[in-house]
Amino acid sequence: MTPAKPAQRHQKLVSELRTADYRYYVLDDPELSDRDYDALFAELKALEAKHPELVNPDSPTQRVGDRPRSELASVAHAVPMMSLDNTYSREDLEEFVRRVKDGLPDTAQVRFCVEPKLDGASVELLYRGGKFVEGSTRGDGKTGELITENLRTIRSVPTRIEYEGPLTLRAEVVIFRRDLEAINQAREARGEARFANPRNAASGSLRMLDPRIVAERRLRAFVWQVVETEQFEGSHSASLDRLAELGIPTHRNHTECETIDEIWEAISKIEQKRTDYAFEIDGAVIKVDARAQQDILGATAKFPRWAIAYKFGAERAYTKLLEIKVQVGRTGTLTPVAQLVPVALAGTTVSRASLHNEQVIENLDVRIGDLVGIEKAGEIIPQVVHVDTSARTGDERKFVMPDKCPVCETPVERVTGEVAVRCPNPTCPDKVKGAVLHFTRRFAMDIDHLGESLIDQLVEKGLVKDVSDLYALTHEQVLSLERMGKKSAQNVVDSIQGSKARPLSRLLTGLGIEHVGQVAATQLAQTVVSLPKLLELDATGLAELLANIAGFGPKLTESVQAYLSNEVSRSVLQRLFELQVSIPEPQPERSAEGPLVGLSFCVTGVLTRKREDVHAAIRSAGGQVHDKVKKGTSYLVVGEKVGKAKLDAATKSGAKLINESELEAMIAGTATG
Ligand code: IVH
Repeated sequence: MTPAKPAQRHQKLVSELRTADYRYYVLDDPELSDRDYDALFAELKALEAKHPELVNPDSPTQRVGDRPRSELASVAHAVPMMSLDNTYSREDLEEFVRRVKDGLPDTAQVRFCVEPKLDGASVELLYRGGKFVEGSTRGDGKTGELITENLRTIRSVPTRIEYEGPLTLRAEVVIFRRDLEAINQAREARGEARFANPRNAASGSLRMLDPRIVAERRLRAFVWQVVETEQFEGSHSASLDRLAELGIPTHRNHTECETIDEIWEAISKIEQKRTDYAFEIDGAVIKVDARAQQDILGATAKFPRWAIAYKFGAERAYTKLLEIKVQVGRTGTLTPVAQLVPVALAGTTVSRASLHNEQVIENLDVRIGDLVGIEKAGEIIPQVVHVDTSARTGDERKFVMPDKCPVCETPVERVTGEVAVRCPNPTCPDKVKGAVLHFTRRFAMDIDHLGESLIDQLVEKGLVKDVSDLYALTHEQVLSLERMGKKSAQNVVDSIQGSKARPLSRLLTGLGIEHVGQVAATQLAQTVVSLPKLLELDATGLAELLANIAGFGPKLTESVQAYLSNEVSRSVLQRLFELQVSIPEPQPERSAEGPLVGLSFCVTGVLTRKREDVHAAIRSAGGQVHDKVKKGTSYLVVGEKVGKAKLDAATKSGAKLINESELEAMIAGTATG
């Protein structure tokens, strides 16, 4: 096999890495494994080392870093960030206290500090001359990643303090339980996966590259240790108090103890108050309070000998499972939901818990009438995690997944290779309700005054069979609903009508096309521009258009194609068009500076890069992109297989013809003519 020419290989590598970056950063849906990405990157670097003439400012090697692992600079911790030995019993704790005392002179008085163990991501914060100068992740304990800018976005971390000396602090970054749901909803709206728990959300956010996104994550930091001892000698508990005085956030909850009984009581108090904390705690930390004693005790290879963690079990409550109801979601998936005797768990009363699917029920062997264990795995939605089979009386019943939809009685479908069971009826009332609710959401068409119960009524009365019916609703029809006054009815109609002016991307998000979240919807909308243009496309036109959207893989493409070739969905779109719903998608802003300012480009033919990528590169260099060659188009960028019509139009309009490498040279600012 003859190896590809270096220039061709270079372009191919650049294009593949760019697509991979896009999927990783923008779509958060990588297709390439880290290892494959690194291999491509290494190959590109080697190729550029051998052929320096191929390096251009646009190459992924020339960016400020690439992905988090290589993008975030490494930083050595002057004092290693160790972890803590764990215990789960009072006996283990007694053993710890004995070991501590054995390690200190006989005459020593030992005091302990007991505090909550925060379940987040640990970081180091450096203050010099009263300023926050550097922050890093724990990493492997010896070397972390530099995340100063991300930590600066955490409002609770002061950027200036009234303390001149060097100060090295260790803290836990957490997300409040109540904030996680909002973050997850936003992720879902963008078609991204939910974070399983606040810890994952916190550590994922900390390592993000764009501090603006980090700022949206509502992170908080609480300091649990002062490393630098200058002026902070004495005790750990006194240091925490001192920090609080300086306006540095600490968990503000520590108890000084002497005996094992006192320690045990302090731990129990923390455990009792576990749900009062706005963030997750997973145990208590018991520390020898005096720094001098900490120094004598020292550390093993892994843990300090002066501290230990007492870990709590996951919070669980037992209650009776009364019934298993089956819910039908917007996509038609049937979800079994446990109906429970209400029980208090982690700060709320729980009366329903998800059982996900038949497989879960089978694995747990859950039966109706069982005494079941419920846990909240960091998430707000409780789960059935255990069955107390010893409490069975023999009256328990096995659950059978219905073979007809519980709402519309259509026989359900099983998707091969999936556990999910679905109702295939597009007019199933619960699917319609779910679909309409999704359509009205803030991230979609943002229709106020139209809550769940109104939607239920509209669907049940047959006034709304699909989302297009919303726009045909009259004031009288809305007024005929329960508990509806004239003014409220008007508000509903007004906000529905007002939503007609949302851009196409919002409409596409609201349609709930499988795999199409906000990001994909926006890309599609920017490419197709308007609803009538979308409806005009034939299958070939659509396939071509989708193939040119960066990051649209086979799953997304097939889903959009299936949606647009389905007669029912097409007629909904047609009706929305007739009712004048949605305005053309505004095109992304051009950069106000760059080598292409004042120039306009039309791109045609097959290029080595996706057309969307070429458009984006032109725009970010300040250029304008035209769909068609028109009067005033400065350049026609010509790829392969270009039609004669386009070339003729270009010649007529006076646009200059250039090829892809000429364009790249212009973007790089190295063009001579
Ligand atoms: S003291 C030398 N105190 O737990 C280690 N750690 O398993 C001293 N953590 O990496 C650790 N809350 O991220 C300490 N109040 C607390 C803590 C705490 C949470 C985390 C920390 C550490 C891990 C150790």
